[in-house]
Amino acid sequence: MSIPAPKSSGGAMLRLEGVSAGYAGFQALFNVSLEVRPGESVAVIGPNGAGKTTLLRTVSKLIELSAGEILMEGRSLHAVPAHEVIALGIAQVPEGRRLFARLSVEENLKMGAFLPAARPRYTERLKFVYSLFPRLQERSSQIAGTLSGGEQQMCAIGRALMSGPKLLLLDEPSAGLAPVVVQSIFALVKRICAEGYTVLIVEQNIRQVLKVVDRAYLLETGRIKMDGPSAELLASDEIRKAYLGI
Ligand SMILES: Nc1ncnc2c1ncn2[C@@H]1O[C@H](COP(=O)(O)OP(=O)(O)O)[C@@H](O)[C@H]1O
Ligand SMILES: [Mg+2]
Repeated sequence: MSIPAPKSSGGAMLRLEGVSAGYAGFQALFNVSLEVRPGESVAVIGPNGAGKTTLLRTVSKLIELSAGEILMEGRSLHAVPAHEVIALGIAQVPEGRRLFARLSVEENLKMGAFLPAARPRYTERLKFVYSLFPRLQERSSQIAGTLSGGEQQMCAIGRALMSGPKLLLLDEPSAGLAPVVVQSIFALVKRICAEGYTVLIVEQNIRQVLKVVDRAYLLETGRIKMDGPSAELLASDEIRKAYLGI
């Protein structure tokens, strides 16, 4: 069974225009512009410290912009506080998963459906998440902290889907996982895209993520250096030499 993701009409779903941001005394993003269109899967790739997490945190309004603008379905996020971002249909899977380690899988999933708008659809969404991740259903009463790394990542993604988002933000879902588990997580990301969700994923695992997404942007020291269809970036000399060791 599947619940089609809500679609918006025309134009970018998410657009960053000339975004600069950072931390006290330290600028981490410089004039970053990018867009994610409805139904697309887009990656921001780049090495450790490039500013990928900072970029997602600006979209979630956890970090203030020093310049530029972020638009969700044409609407500026400028005046939207962090706790209201999810109500606009943006759900983030944070770096390091951040599950409630002492709660069960199902209790974690329930936490993702806390919005008043999501609650009436809780049972339906839970079924949907379990259909995507049968492993989670098998382990629904297991304490999240005792799951394997890959299962924890599934649970974190499932929790984000429980809010019924339009746009899913994923922060390095492959981090810390064994190569074979990384492959299965990326296969799930592909499946989520195929279900019609719009996905923005930031990753250091450039080779693998480029096999999954439609387009990507290369972020280096806070600046977008390249962008294009994934196949184009995979074939580019610059990326092959600097990141794929070819
Ligand atoms: N809370 C913070 N305070 C100060 N500097 C930070 C903070 N978080 C990240 N940074 C710095 O911002 C830069 C980008 O970090 P981050 O966005 O975490 O990169 P990535 O996710 O690509 O590894 C790095 O130089 C990092 O040291
Ligand atoms: Mg990061």
